[in-house]
Parts: sequence; structure tokens; C-alpha cells
Amino acid sequence: PWNAPRAAGIIAEHTQREGATLPILHALQETFGYVDAEAVPLIADALNLSRAEVHGCITFYHDFRSAPAGRRTVKLCRAEACQAMGADALHDEILSRLGVDWHGTTRDGAVTVEPVFCLGLCACGPAALIDGQPLARLDADTLQAVVTERLS
Ligand code: FES
Repeated sequence: PWNAPRAAGIIAEHTQREGATLPILHALQETFGYVDAEAVPLIADALNLSRAEVHGCITFYHDFRSAPAGRRTVKLCRAEACQAMGADALHDEILSRLGVDWHGTTRDGAVTVEPVFCLGLCACGPAALIDGQPLARLDADTLQAVVTERLS
């Protein structure tokens, strides 16, 4: 869980570095799994930046989460070969079933959905990674079944 003194310590370790914002954000995310909103003023003060600048950096790089990830992470391939296999419509269906948008986490905290761009499974798209495990020829029912099974 988020721990403000610990976060402050991590920030202090990096403040002398050039371009410290990204290393700090990476370190916080690695430690806590996300970058809590509380970190924004801490980083801003430490680096003499505005809060808006720090916030902008967090939202610009989609790698950073502003809330803890779901218990399962689903990465859906949005690159060309998968698109040619109907990935766009499939993704719409998956996102609407889960009630989230890209980078979103379901309200029960179960699933986070992220885009990826090519998983090297182009010959058998649409492709996805579920908690790092590749899944080929994906359809919405299979995804739902796999996610449900893994959550149980
Ligand atoms: Fe989707 Fe390559 S384009 S895996």
C-alpha cells in the first residue's frame, strides 16, 4: 500500500539526478504499483516544478498508473495484424462488457485493460496477454472465461 514517508524517501534519493521526474515516477510505481496523487505535490516541491507539470508527466506516459492495478491485467493487441482480424470490434465488446476504457480498472478492482502494440502473435490474432500469458485467436467469451477462472 501507499506510504507517504516511504515515498518521500524515494523521491529524496533521486532529486539530485538530472531529469529526475521519470526516475522518481518509475521508482514509485515499482514500489507501490502505482503513483498516488499524494506524490504529485511531493515531487513538485522536491524538483521545483508545478503540480501541473508533474501531473502532466504522469498522464502523458501511459506506463504510470494513478490507482492500483486490478488483480488481473489484460493487454489487448491493437497493432495492424490483429486489427485485420477484427480486433477493434472485439476490443469494443470487451471494454463495454467490463465497463472500462483503455487503461481502466473494473470497479470491483478485478481487471485492468491495457493496449499493447504487437505481441509477435500476428499469425493468430486477435492476440492478448493475460497476466503475461499469451492468448491467441481471442474472442470476448474466451477472455471472459479465462479472466473469471483466474479470479476464482
Ligand atoms: Fe497483434 Fe502482432 S499485430 S500480435
